[in-house]
Amino acid sequence: MNRKVTKAIFPVAGLGTRFLPATKSIPKEIMTLVDRPLIQYAIDEARAAGIKEFIFVTSRGKGALEDYFDHAHELENTLRKAGKDDLLELLRQTNMESGAIAYIRQHKAMGLGHAVWCARRLIHDEPFAVVLTDDVVMGEPPCLQQMIEAHAETGGSMVATMEVPLEKTKSYGVLDVAEDMGAIVRAKGMVEKPKENPPSNLAVIGRYILAPTVMENLNKLKQGAGGEIQLTDAIADEIEEGRDVYGLRFRGQRYDCGSKAGFLQATVAFGLARDELKDEFAEYLHDVMAMRKAAE
Ligand code: UTP
Repeated sequence: MNRKVTKAIFPVAGLGTRFLPATKSIPKEIMTLVDRPLIQYAIDEARAAGIKEFIFVTSRGKGALEDYFDHAHELENTLRKAGKDDLLELLRQTNMESGAIAYIRQHKAMGLGHAVWCARRLIHDEPFAVVLTDDVVMGEPPCLQQMIEAHAETGGSMVATMEVPLEKTKSYGVLDVAEDMGAIVRAKGMVEKPKENPPSNLAVIGRYILAPTVMENLNKLKQGAGGEIQLTDAIADEIEEGRDVYGLRFRGQRYDCGSKAGFLQATVAFGLARDELKDEFAEYLHDVMAMRKAAE
């Protein structure tokens, strides 16, 4: 029986330069898709997957993110007095249990691998999840739950993968496949942003379940590296050392909310998925497209 995954690391210490000037004062993770910040989507997905401990790797200027998880007692009292039970319930659903969240500081943005390594003292000998909040996945069951269920069967480490056109592989970590079992593949290598000759069209997105040995690999990389420390390299080292790494072709649609185009696409998709918005919004989109066509 493989060990249950109950801890998740959320690396949120990046600079978010693609969203400047907004990210001068707003953490990227607080930017809202429809009416909830990106971080809420990530937390909801992790909770649905059975995660109990939430470890945020933050940095300077991310105060708003920490504040977001405070219970808003005054606001709750006001809503209660006004009889706004539905809003009160909405707020309560976002409340986190005391002690469930830990914040670790990454003092310098030295890469995703380095951010994960910063949380090493909170991870012991158990597998842990890593969730990148700027990858928002619409899926049922949620992506991380699909992974945790698959990981319970396979053990080892697991990354979420999706097929992309070969010419787009240079923007992703890409799996080199040893064995394709359908939804699950076993990897024999993993390359970060290959400039040429990608080993497959299976791109890695921001959901991982990692064996505790990945932290040891990060430790070694930390000692050797001058620049950014890549999580991909620490996962590739697992394979080198003879441990299993799997990819899961998750069911669902991933949006890259770290890019402007991806964020806009997600806004449309999540807007259209809302019962209270979809009719008005779909009509608006239809009119916009019709006007564009007429102008061509
Ligand atoms: P990105 O590559 O999207 O970088 O990081 P970024 O700094 O957030 O954004 P841009 O490219 O400047 O616009 C992917 C994830 O890794 C985290 C980020 O917060 C994001 O969730 N990260 C990245 C860290 O926590 N620390 C780092 O040093 C680098």
